[in-house]
Amino acid sequence: MPAEMRLFVDKHVRYIQSLDTREDELEYWLTEHLRLSGLYWGLTALHLLRHPHALPRQEILEFVISCLHENGGFGAAPGHDAHMLYTVSAVQILATLDAFDELEERLPGVRQKIGHYMANLQDPQTGTFLGDEWGEHDTRFLYGALNALSLMGFLHLVNVDKAVDYIQSCANFDGGYGTGPGAESHSGQVFTCVGALTIAGRLDLVNQEKLGAWLSERQLKNGGLNGRPEKKEDVCYSWWVMSSLAMLKKLHWIDGEKLTAFILKCQDPELGGLADRPGDMVDVFHTVFGIAGLSLLQYPGLAEVDPV
Ligand code: FPP
Ligand code: ZN
Repeated sequence: MPAEMRLFVDKHVRYIQSLDTREDELEYWLTEHLRLSGLYWGLTALHLLRHPHALPRQEILEFVISCLHENGGFGAAPGHDAHMLYTVSAVQILATLDAFDELEERLPGVRQKIGHYMANLQDPQTGTFLGDEWGEHDTRFLYGALNALSLMGFLHLVNVDKAVDYIQSCANFDGGYGTGPGAESHSGQVFTCVGALTIAGRLDLVNQEKLGAWLSERQLKNGGLNGRPEKKEDVCYSWWVMSSLAMLKKLHWIDGEKLTAFILKCQDPELGGLADRPGDMVDVFHTVFGIAGLSLLQYPGLAEVDPV
């Protein structure tokens, strides 16, 4: 394989392992509000790189439990308020570690509590979900809730039909979806809406030809993908755009070779990790979504990723 097509697997594994031991660095504390999600992204990247045990399972579990609140919600880090996004990350980590039974044994009734925390954030009027009791809403929370509840076998706790109606109200004339009704189409929101409709078994409601075309127009001359028209390329859209195309079975609507080359250029070949675009600082968010994009592109040696 030519040098410029190499994925630096060992470097990326070491980069992810190092994230936990950087308590003396400012960046570690600046990202504390993302800690639980950061752990999920790191763990997922390790699984895709086929090094699933590179972080200590028991320590991960203890950290997740230390973020749990009495009401069944999780905060980003110990002492942080509970929020839908971190609860989703906690559930995704527990599913990855196959740790639900262990958790239930230690804290009887906790599974129901977590399920009800998320279900209670559904707005019965509109069908969408709030991020927390303060009322902000965004299709990210709707997707997150359906994803986590389905992982736990608790989809029946919510009104899926009403959630589906809400997603339909976010559809735009270009085939895409925004953060709410009338909001501009954005690939991140397309992922959340198409993902939620996939979980609900209602992909028939998507204008698949139009959305497929809009998503394929996200590829720029340099091979990278942007999130919406007139914006710059960013490696994380290799996931938001490509997973949406995968759910629509239209992955071949973009040039996979050019995208693969772009993602690989975003690597830090010395210290590991991927950045949003070549030459920028790496972070764990762009690392996992770049690698997940490569997995969808069937880059050799990676574990297979589920687009939802
Ligand atoms: C930047 O928007 C936003 C992102 C790069 C993230 C998009 C992803 C989502 C909304 C899906 C998240 C899903 C879950 C479940 C958490 P911008 O307007 O700053 O960037 P732009 O300039 O690239 O448009
Ligand atoms: Zn990004």
